Amino acid sequence: MQPVPATVPALVTGASSGLGESFARHLAGRGHELVLVARRVDRLERLATELRAVSEAPVEVLGADLETAGGRGLVTARLGAGGPWLLVNSAGFGSRGRFVEQDPAREAAEITVNALAVHQLMRAALPGCLEARGGGVINVASTAAFQPLPHFATYAATKAFVLHLTEAVAAELPGSGVRVMALCPGPTRTEFGDVAGVTGEFERIGPLFMTADRVVSAALRSFDHGDVICVPGAVNLAGATGVRLLPRFAVRRLLEPVFRRR
Ligand SMILES: NC(=O)c1ccc[n+]([C@@H]2O[C@H](COP(=O)([O-])OP(=O)(O)OC[C@H]3O[C@@H](n4cnc5c(N)ncnc54)[C@H](OP(=O)(O)O)[C@@H]3O)[C@@H](O)[C@H]2O)c1
Repeated sequence: MQPVPATVPALVTGASSGLGESFARHLAGRGHELVLVARRVDRLERLATELRAVSEAPVEVLGADLETAGGRGLVTARLGAGGPWLLVNSAGFGSRGRFVEQDPAREAAEITVNALAVHQLMRAALPGCLEARGGGVINVASTAAFQPLPHFATYAATKAFVLHLTEAVAAELPGSGVRVMALCPGPTRTEFGDVAGVTGEFERIGPLFMTADRVVSAALRSFDHGDVICVPGAVNLAGATGVRLLPRFAVRRLLEPVFRRR
């Protein structure tokens, strides 16, 4: 398979930070026209100004809160107004702690942004891709998708949803010219840890962190090859594979103390 041609515009959610910002830089470097989506429009504007200086392709800023139906509607309308697209669903966040102690409203928002928005945006992007027989979708899941994670219960469940959804849709697309891929990174240096309130604990596993740039380089290489799942980094791949060899009860018991707050 070849890379998606630069003539296909790319829409990147979560482009104000971390993996989404890195996707935007890489895709601008490949010459794609860009639509940058997030809530912090000031950051998107700064990035757009920077990218316009290095790329001839237009860069558009679309402020949208994917937690709200109105925000998701803005983005699905943009995707529905013609295709094909290269859609990168990177917006998302995690919450940490015992399930019964979590704020129900924040958990609902997490399910909405991490799962429902991914579903609705992919659904909006694919018809134009299929009609044009090109483009595709990268959904950012996580290594958390491969097993239940006690104390990250909702987060891991949203990522399992994204992984399963992406795999199933990919299996419906052979011969269509359209590709979809789930990107399953392990710990990556972004603002994720601050938002999830786990910065200190994340620091303890410092050597296992990858940079957003490395994760995105690996993701785009995999996407170019037509892979359906990309787990960047040997340690992450070993973990995602190894967990399948253990009985599920053992996985739950092993992981609970690892993620319990000390
Ligand atoms: N970093 C890791 O260790 C890691 C590992 C595996 C998977 N992931 C996944 O990677 C993806 C990107 O996260 P990241 O690591 O790059 O974290 P990040 O630096 O915190 O970036 C998260 C992005 O999501 C956007 N976002 C959050 N809520 C939103 C909302 N309601 N509406 C619109 N945009 C929203 C944020 O933009 P605004 O705040 O400006 O709206 C920001 O651009 C997430 O799906 C995350 O679950 C991260």
